[in-house]
Amino acid sequence: MIDTEVRVGIVGAGGVARRHAEALASMPDVGLVGVTDPDGGRAADLAATVGTTPADDLDALLARGVDAAWVCVPPFAHGEVETRLAVAGVALFVEKPLGLDVAAAEQVHAAVVTAGVPTSVGHHWRSSAVVARARELVAGRTIRLVSATWLDKVPPVPWWAQRGSSGGQVVEQAVHVLDLARLLAGEVTAVHAVADAAPPSPGTDVDSATAGTLRFAGGAVGTLAATCRLAWKHRAGIELYADDLALSVSEEQLTVRDSEGIRTVEVDPADARTAADRAFVDHLLGRPPSGGGIVVDYGEALRTHRLACALADSVASGGPVALDGAR
Ligand SMILES: NC(=O)c1ccc[n+]([C@@H]2O[C@H](COP(=O)([O-])OP(=O)(O)OC[C@H]3O[C@@H](n4cnc5c(N)ncnc54)[C@H](O)[C@@H]3O)[C@@H](O)[C@H]2O)c1
Repeated sequence: MIDTEVRVGIVGAGGVARRHAEALASMPDVGLVGVTDPDGGRAADLAATVGTTPADDLDALLARGVDAAWVCVPPFAHGEVETRLAVAGVALFVEKPLGLDVAAAEQVHAAVVTAGVPTSVGHHWRSSAVVARARELVAGRTIRLVSATWLDKVPPVPWWAQRGSSGGQVVEQAVHVLDLARLLAGEVTAVHAVADAAPPSPGTDVDSATAGTLRFAGGAVGTLAATCRLAWKHRAGIELYADDLALSVSEEQLTVRDSEGIRTVEVDPADARTAADRAFVDHLLGRPPSGGGIVVDYGEALRTHRLACALADSVASGGPVALDGAR
């Protein structure tokens, strides 16, 4: 049982690790015990920024006594890291996606269930005030149509545009809006997707664009549209339509149109990211979430990961893919 301070290790020292580490370093009930990354220079740099020290490897980090680890590694590096931490009894905050495919994530899930360690996954959109409001607005309503989009540039990390390292745009990136689709419209029972397989640049091999259809257990139908061929982030979000209700949700904004007219609410996306970290720390300390955030446990995130992987599988096979639509 964790008493008054959570001892946190950071695994991976890239962009998202920095974001989490800075948020955690500002929390009085978190002690950062170290940072590990195969790139020792990166680990040392991040550790210095947040007032801790680099650890040579996972064993060295574990030897310092760790209650919880924030696993901030690229998609290809998931699996063994989480399993070793879980076996050591360490609680896990895991960045999305859970891995390149379903099999690796299923193995981690089995390990965390066996070990009984608390988990949360970086689906921080769920911790946003506008998503909370959207949930209230759709409660009890029958969703008819869902339109999810991720229209963006290729992110500036070396592994992203290689399918064997990232899993491709739907698994790596659009998984955020697929998670919202499940949260707001329920489980998906079948998908069918096609892609423009032209790579975004020479020497890369992810698809340039993906278009998919989704069938929801509640009867709704939906689409996912994704491209990485822009020079800017154009739009990432989801639109939902019920009888006389239209919602548009992004990381920054909620727009609602109903019989009362049109309303827009704006939020700072940084708030949801911090709230997700805060919620997991509170969870580990046995307290109610103090920042409006939500813990999305590994099993729940695995359902979203299966959906993203089903869309990727459909592109690969050229046919529809069925999913288990039961909760
Ligand atoms: N939730 C979000 O909004 C959000 C935002 C950004 C990134 N991410 C996710 O976080 C992950 C990392 O993204 P990033 O932008 O930080 O990438 P990055 O390339 O900047 O950093 C990843 C780091 O992990 C390290 N690494 C690789 N294998 C490792 C291992 N076995 N053990 C420890 N460290 C290892 C790399 O050396 C690198 O320093 C990606 O899956 C990405 O999708 C999520």
